[in-house]
Amino acid sequence: MRIGILGAGTMADALGTQWLAAGHDIMVSGRNPVASAALAEKMTTAAQRPGAPAPGVARAGTWAEAAEYGEVVMVAVLEAGLHDVLRAAGPAMRGKPVIDVTNAVGPGAYDVTRSLAELIADSTGGQVVKAFNLCHVDVWRMTPPVFDGRPLAVPLCGDDERALATARTLVTDLGCTPVHGGGLDRAKLLEATAAFMIGLWITGADAQAVLPPLAGSGTHPTT
Ligand SMILES: NC(=O)c1ccc[n+]([C@@H]2O[C@H](COP(=O)([O-])OP(=O)(O)OC[C@H]3O[C@@H](n4cnc5c(N)ncnc54)[C@H](OP(=O)(O)O)[C@@H]3O)[C@@H](O)[C@H]2O)c1
Repeated sequence: MRIGILGAGTMADALGTQWLAAGHDIMVSGRNPVASAALAEKMTTAAQRPGAPAPGVARAGTWAEAAEYGEVVMVAVLEAGLHDVLRAAGPAMRGKPVIDVTNAVGPGAYDVTRSLAELIADSTGGQVVKAFNLCHVDVWRMTPPVFDGRPLAVPLCGDDERALATARTLVTDLGCTPVHGGGLDRAKLLEATAAFMIGLWITGADAQAVLPPLAGSGTHPTT
């Protein structure tokens, strides 16, 4: 599929390269067209993997061109630039699947009263799915992300079944397992979880160890 990426930073690079290697075509976008074009070239080289089928095509464009290009659009910009980028991207994301990987990070940056995902949905009219925000970019460069023999599970929060199906495909392309995390109203919980976990990792705590495995998680009503 054609994936438009708002962003030409580390998340655009890591996830975009994985999807290129899986055969998707991508367009990255940033504030500096020369840097974006250089990233597209670098990703093309990185996506060529020995013995694997030919990768897709990577190109660079403006914010609006990437929003227009994508059958699905990933938002991968810093919160500081989010409003400006969405304004510059224009109306092309209306009705499209939109994958939102953004986090509000830094001391005091996280705001429990609203999620970036809902802000993006309101601003673009896109069918937003919150995903990929829980793990550091280095994890998204792993081929595949597997820990202790278990593929990484990626929670998805969104309301639109077509957008969720697209997100599940993109998760599976990484060798990860999609997990239904509920509707877009739960994206604020996913963003809060990221803010909390990042805080633990920064202090050197093993964030994975704070939760028990399913078998030890208590008795729960089945759905
Ligand atoms: N890095 C991680 O480990 C990680 C993990 C999960 C989620 N996230 C989230 O993913 C998003 C992208 O992260 P990243 O690591 O890819 O960031 P990054 O490498 O710093 O790239 C940021 C992107 O945002 C763009 N941008 C637009 N307006 C901006 C402004 N006013 N100030 C700064 N940048 C602006 C940059 O444009 P230019 O290309 O023109 O510089 C760049 O393309 C963030 O919301 C982050 O919280 C990051």
